[in-house]
Amino acid sequence: MTARIAVLGSCNMDLVAYVPTAPRRGETVTGTAFRTVPGGKGMNQAIAAARAGGDVLMIGAVGDDGFGGGLRAALTAAGVDTAGLRTATGPSGTAHIVVDDDGGNAIVVVPGANGSVAGLAPGDEDLIASADTLLLQLELPLDGVLAGARAARAHGVRTVLTPAPARPLPEELLRLVDLLVPNEHEAQTLTGHADPGAAARALLDLVPEVVVTLGEAGSLYAARGAEPVTVPAVPVRAVDTTAAGDTFTGALAVASGEGRPMPDALAWAAAAAALSVGRPGASSSMPDRAEIDAFRTGAAHPVPEHEGRTAR
Ligand code: RIB
Repeated sequence: MTARIAVLGSCNMDLVAYVPTAPRRGETVTGTAFRTVPGGKGMNQAIAAARAGGDVLMIGAVGDDGFGGGLRAALTAAGVDTAGLRTATGPSGTAHIVVDDDGGNAIVVVPGANGSVAGLAPGDEDLIASADTLLLQLELPLDGVLAGARAARAHGVRTVLTPAPARPLPEELLRLVDLLVPNEHEAQTLTGHADPGAAARALLDLVPEVVVTLGEAGSLYAARGAEPVTVPAVPVRAVDTTAAGDTFTGALAVASGEGRPMPDALAWAAAAAALSVGRPGASSSMPDRAEIDAFRTGAAHPVPEHEGRTAR
C-alpha cells in the first residue's frame, strides 16, 4: 500500500557556507565552500517522503524571484505534485546556514513567500482530503498551520506535526495533532520538561502519539496506554546534519502510512536520517527507498568515506 502524503509547509532556498568553525559575534572567518540547496522544513519532508516511496503533494508558496522556479523544479524532480504550490509576489523563503567541520549548523530563516500562507487557498482542502497523512511544521504563519490541521481533522486525515522552529503552541493546535515529532529542545519548549520521557508523558495529555527525537541517542516513542519505546539511532560520521530531522519525519510518514508497526517504522526512519547526515545539504542529502532498505539490511555502508566534504 502506497502512503498518500500531503505536506503543508515552507519552501526555502538554503544558502550554505561550510566553515571549519562557526564565527563568533563580531568575527569573520573564511569558508571552504558555498552551495545553494533547495530546503525548508516543508519541502524537505515532502522530498524525503517522495524519495522514500510515498505519493506526495506539496501545499505552500514560493516567490516570483530567481529562487522560486528552482524550488518548484526540485519538488517536481523528486516526484512531488506541486498543484498546491502557489507563486507569491516577492522573494522566496531563504535559509542562511553555516555548517561546521563537525556537521553541526546554525540557521537564520527569512520567510519570504512562506509568510503569505496564512490560510488555505481554494482547492487546498480537497488536496488535504485526498491524502491519508498531513505533514505540518512551524515555518508558515500559525494561522495557516491551524487551518491545515482543522481541514485534516474534518476529513479524517492523520496529522503529523514537527513543532519546529520551537515555539509555544495553542492547545487547539496540539489537540488536532495525531502524532507529534519534537526534538528534545522543542519538547521542552512545549512542556517545560528537560527530560524527554517527562515531556512525552505531558504531551500525551493532548496528543495520542509522540516521538521525541534525541539525535545520536535515537528516538523515544510514547503512545497513550502503552509502554514507551526507545529506538536507537544509527551511528555515522556526520558531514552535515541539516534536514536530518526532516528526512526522519518524511520516511516515518511513509513507513507508518504503509501500516508498518511504529518501532519498525522508527528504525527505518532512523536509517534514512543516518544516510542523510553523511551527505551535505538538505534535500540533496536524502536517500531513496532502495538505499534505505539496503542500509537496513546491512547491504550498504551508510557513509562511504569518499563522500562528504569532497562532494561539496
Ligand atoms: O530543517 C532544515 C531546514 O531548516 C533547512 O533546509 C532550512 O531551510 C530551514 O528551514
